[in-house]
Amino acid sequence: MEQASTEDHDHQPVDLDRLRRTAETVLRGNWSGDHMVPSRTLYPHQWSWDAAFISIGLAHVAPDRAWRDLRSLFTAQWPDGRVPHIVFDPGVNEKDYFPGPAFWDVPPLPGGPSHIRTTGIVQPPVHALAARMIHRVAPDAEELRWLYPRLVAQQEYLLKHRDAGGAGLASIVHPWESGLDNSPSWDDALAQLPADVRVLDRYQRRDVQVSVATHRPTNADYARYIALAASYRDNGYQDFDLLERHGFVVECPAFNALTADAELALAEIAAVVGADPGPHRERAAGITQAMIERLYDPETGLFHTLDVRTGKRSKARCVNGLMPLILPGLPARVAASLADQAASARFGLSPVPVPSYDRTAPDFDPLRYWRGPVWINVNWLLRRGFAGHGYAAEAEALRQAMLSVVDRSGCFEYFHPTTGEGIGTPEFSWTAALILDLLAIPRTHP
Ligand code: SER
Repeated sequence: MEQASTEDHDHQPVDLDRLRRTAETVLRGNWSGDHMVPSRTLYPHQWSWDAAFISIGLAHVAPDRAWRDLRSLFTAQWPDGRVPHIVFDPGVNEKDYFPGPAFWDVPPLPGGPSHIRTTGIVQPPVHALAARMIHRVAPDAEELRWLYPRLVAQQEYLLKHRDAGGAGLASIVHPWESGLDNSPSWDDALAQLPADVRVLDRYQRRDVQVSVATHRPTNADYARYIALAASYRDNGYQDFDLLERHGFVVECPAFNALTADAELALAEIAAVVGADPGPHRERAAGITQAMIERLYDPETGLFHTLDVRTGKRSKARCVNGLMPLILPGLPARVAASLADQAASARFGLSPVPVPSYDRTAPDFDPLRYWRGPVWINVNWLLRRGFAGHGYAAEAEALRQAMLSVVDRSGCFEYFHPTTGEGIGTPEFSWTAALILDLLAIPRTHP
């Protein structure tokens, strides 16, 4: 078990009991009956990849709620298998989040309850990993049996409907699908689209009313987000002929690494529910191989986003380019180059955890969302990657850096990459949840 305190980088003890209590309080406050909100003010509905990260940590303190959160999300799964990136809470007023259900205009699920309204885009599939991890802490074969076919359908949607590049990788059709909204990873692809900020005369941004505008995506980026979402919506959320019909089609290394990781989690779940793990392992190996061929640049030692429309790889060095480290099937030389890059001056594992973008880039912005700040979810994933490839010291350095920054600043949405100050919304659910999981290491981790 963990000792009662540990040392942060300034040799200040981290009060582990206080940290645990703080995290638990955040999760109690953000529970909304059958799901967790990421934040009461900024994100008052249920978000897809948030639900996965949240349920992983929640399993340690309220396993029934952890299973419930996943079940609520998958109850809103579309017949084609897609798991929507937001499930709207019918009790929240339309004006309290934009773009809300009226903008997305998704009809109720056929045969489903009419109150379930969703967006039509997806987020990274972290849910199989979540189900596998919850099951380790709070085994429930019945929940796994309910989830397994739904998780399989989610993967099939991504790997069939979204394989716009034809190489076995999933494309995303909106920066919001990555979860890394304004990452420099998308700048080249977005630059080909007009940024007509007049659209913001028609639609009011809600995020900048409840958060600091300089910490959020710019109006130019937001105008493109709205235009892309409207275009996909107006095409009926269809995925055929994406390259001809849609202005943003990219292969993200983090999204695909998580898709491969989901197959590995499904292989383990399959063994529990009496299904065949073999095809899941094969798919994970196929995705890993395709990622190395298409997204890895030996010169930078990183993975980069591929714009499927132009065939060009982004040169930006972003945290999503480190994320394939989570894949056990990565060749040792590729894992070593990612580990080197993560520990280098461009990123750095401590005293503050890995930032979302190359610290040495001229447009590194320590405050603006995914263009510099530190996020706990990607660091939590990276820690697993280090541990899985035998980099125990790096994994532990990252764990300590995460515990330290949250102990000093609170369960913020993201953190200043130099000072560790909390930015974005306070009392952010996945920060709290993943801290609880980090506090449980090594008890629940191999
Ligand atoms: N992260 C986006 C938001 O600001 C979309 O999910 O709400």
